[in-house]
Amino acid sequence: MPSPPIVTIDGPSGSGKGTISRAVAVRAGWHLLDSGALYRLVALAGRKRSLNPDDTQGHAQIAGSMDVRFDVATDGGEAVILAGEEVTRQIRSEEAGQGASRVAAWPAVRSALLDRQRAFAKAPGLVADGRDMGTVVFPTADLKIFLTASPAERALRRYKQLKDKGSDVSLPALSREITERDQRDATRTVAPLKPAPDAEVIDSTGLSIDQVIDRVIALGRERALWA
Ligand code: DC
Repeated sequence: MPSPPIVTIDGPSGSGKGTISRAVAVRAGWHLLDSGALYRLVALAGRKRSLNPDDTQGHAQIAGSMDVRFDVATDGGEAVILAGEEVTRQIRSEEAGQGASRVAAWPAVRSALLDRQRAFAKAPGLVADGRDMGTVVFPTADLKIFLTASPAERALRRYKQLKDKGSDVSLPALSREITERDQRDATRTVAPLKPAPDAEVIDSTGLSIDQVIDRVIALGRERALWA
């Protein structure tokens, strides 16, 4: 069977990857892989099982065996189900992001998630959002985007996102946490956050969401991925 077309969208926290990936997937009518959610789920499942936060093998075992479903909620938004429990909100906190970033630095956890991520590649196509989609998980993707924005703008976007969800966050604390998380994600030895050599780098500082979506759609059109 021919492999389905794949678009990867990688970048640091707050770069707009999630919003852009979802919009592109909807426009193309393709599947979506939110790989960050998988790392968030590993960290959350570890906490729920009271695993020692440093237990690499225990977390790797969870990564390979956890029962996860991505669904549509009654309000039309996403619903993430872990072992039958809806955890959509729990995995979206900045604390969950920090936990994810910690377990994501372990090679055993990353390799345990590889097949699960690759299984998302199904017809008619896949938009994959993460840090290593274009470099490690789908190195032969048809279009690779590396989305970035200035640190100040990324912190502000995450701040607004968390506020909208009712979280009580402070912008300076969030800026520090994001810098720390990016530093860890970019300097780890396995699958660090970096653009693939053949990635199209888009700096979204000062661009609207629609402008970024249009750019990705235009790049996909140039590659005949859609009309
Ligand atoms: O995209 P996100 O903020 O939901 O990701 C949470 C953390 O998971 C991020 O700080 C690093 C890790 N991650 C990763 O290492 N590789 C991915 N493909 C996606 C996320």
